[in-house]
Amino acid sequence: MRTQVCIIGGGPSGLLLSQLLHLHGIATVVLERRTRAYVLSRIRAGVLEWGGVDLLRQAGVGDRMDAEGFVHEGTRLSTGNRSFRIDFKALTGQQVMVYGQTEVTRDLYEARDRMDGKIVHEVEDVTLHGADSDTPFVTYLKGGTEHRIDCDFIAGCDGFHGVSRKSIPTSVLREFERVYPFGWLGVLSETPPVDHELIYAQHERGFALCSMRNAHLSRYYIQTPLDDPLDKWTDQAFWDELRRRIPADAAERLITGPSVEKSIAPLRSFVAEPMRWGRLFLVGDAAHIVPPTGAKGLNLAFSDVHYLRDGLVRHYQGDDEGIETYSERALARVWKSERFSWSMTTLLHRFPDQSTFDLRMQDSELAYLESSRAAQTALAENYIGLPY
Ligand code: APR
Ligand code: PHB
Repeated sequence: MRTQVCIIGGGPSGLLLSQLLHLHGIATVVLERRTRAYVLSRIRAGVLEWGGVDLLRQAGVGDRMDAEGFVHEGTRLSTGNRSFRIDFKALTGQQVMVYGQTEVTRDLYEARDRMDGKIVHEVEDVTLHGADSDTPFVTYLKGGTEHRIDCDFIAGCDGFHGVSRKSIPTSVLREFERVYPFGWLGVLSETPPVDHELIYAQHERGFALCSMRNAHLSRYYIQTPLDDPLDKWTDQAFWDELRRRIPADAAERLITGPSVEKSIAPLRSFVAEPMRWGRLFLVGDAAHIVPPTGAKGLNLAFSDVHYLRDGLVRHYQGDDEGIETYSERALARVWKSERFSWSMTTLLHRFPDQSTFDLRMQDSELAYLESSRAAQTALAENYIGLPY
């Protein structure tokens, strides 16, 4: 088989890239290791920057998001029982859209179906060949039979554990990493959200976050030690701990119910450089991971897709500047989002080795944020998303 761009990974990066390239008349094949049902069962974050909202609309998949998503003009930060609001709209003129990644992925699959997009599920042993030559190809097994796809380019959209990044020689690739000494225990529950906006809560017992998917579905998180067994966290224990960490008015209003999903996720900052090797481009989680505190994971994947779409479209019009500068352009934005995600994480969590001095620094940073319009504007500008 032959295609123009072979896309490895059918998560949001791979699907959005495939959809946008299709609209420019560029042929793609997406190779995904899992079933569609499995991909759609993964619960991930839910805050979209406006750049991502625009990109989804450009891709023709914005209708359900526009109908069912929630526009948020601000967010609440709290420390113990004290809280204040960051007014994105007043500070930056912009806002974010709360719409779950699972829904984005579902919309993308449906759009790809409508356009007869080629997505091969349950592929095994995906192997990249000649990515640094002019004749790259990809082989894989499907149902025990080997297949080969010849292509002009390979897009590695296969997430952090994928095969694409590992295909780049270690002499070329540099990796930068910080692993945080705690995790997030997340609960999804069919209850109305505690507030109409998100609450990011700093507390001496650890961080907590109140988020949502829709008017009847809430998403809550608490910081936990990494080695906490999940069965220690009964629903009752989770709700009790969440109530202790959020401001009293929210704790009183909190409506609890059985969890419909519960899991512990580690927190990591990670960047691989460069994001291009010959005719292979890394996109999204394949190249970088952020801790979820800044809500940037999916949004960074989307800005990568934007730069790569631009580069590939220009290539087929005879101009290679966009693909030659892809890594540089994408990384410039990636590092800024890495910094923001790291700083939000550092500001809001309890670290096991924090000294009394460190704690005072955290307190005074939050106090400064509460009192300074300039500091709030800086946070808001990053949260709503730096320009592409
Ligand atoms: N072959 C084929 N597919 C693979 C392989 C492989 N060797 N390895 C992984 N995959 C698939 C995974 O099954 C997954 O569906 O690649 C896909 C990668 O999707 P994601 O991990 O969701 O990564 P990405 O599309 O870059 O999405 C960006 O933003 O909010 C964050 O982490 C969150 O998933 C989110 C990400
Ligand atoms: C979520 O709703 O899952 C969510 C929201 C904001 C974050 C992280 C996760 O910063």
